[in-house]
Amino acid sequence: MWFDKHNPNVIFQDIREDDYVLCDGRTFSVKPDIIADFRSMPYPDNSFYLVVFDPPHMDNSNDNSYMAQKYGTLRRFKWQDDLKQGFNQCMRVLKPNGILIFKWNETRIPLSRILEIIEIQPLFCHKSGKSSKTHWLCFMKEAQ
Ligand SMILES: C[S@@+](CC[C@H](N)C(=O)[O-])C[C@H]1O[C@@H](n2cnc3c(N)ncnc32)[C@H](O)[C@@H]1O
Repeated sequence: MWFDKHNPNVIFQDIREDDYVLCDGRTFSVKPDIIADFRSMPYPDNSFYLVVFDPPHMDNSNDNSYMAQKYGTLRRFKWQDDLKQGFNQCMRVLKPNGILIFKWNETRIPLSRILEIIEIQPLFCHKSGKSSKTHWLCFMKEAQ
């Protein structure tokens, strides 16, 4: 989703670093600046003006599938706690009044379920077109 995957103003975080050959022969790399778990981020509180949370959205992918290689997978039956922890960590590392963009694709899990889990209402949300399943949610951390 990034225009510049090496933007020096951005810290890219992922839990894995790897190269894959996709089914059509193209290669695909995950090369984060920091390898870390979104459930326990290695940054002090109130660090960032902007956080983008784009977790996996499939809880049923086979680990070798194209979808799993490209987007990762949620842990089966545990994804609710994982996403809640991830969301809370995003809020923790944001500066007061900072912005969180949360990208969610509801192919498997409806957005309404995610909103129940995180228990915070977004300011607004965008979905491009009626048939699109991808939502971009915008949250703002309250001033302390
Ligand atoms: C939808 S992809 C993100 C793609 C990214 N926005 C981009 O433009 O390249 C979701 C990523 O979350 C990573 N992921 C899964 N579980 C994670 C965790 N617990 N902590 C950090 N990253 C995780 C996966 O490895 C996967 O690469």
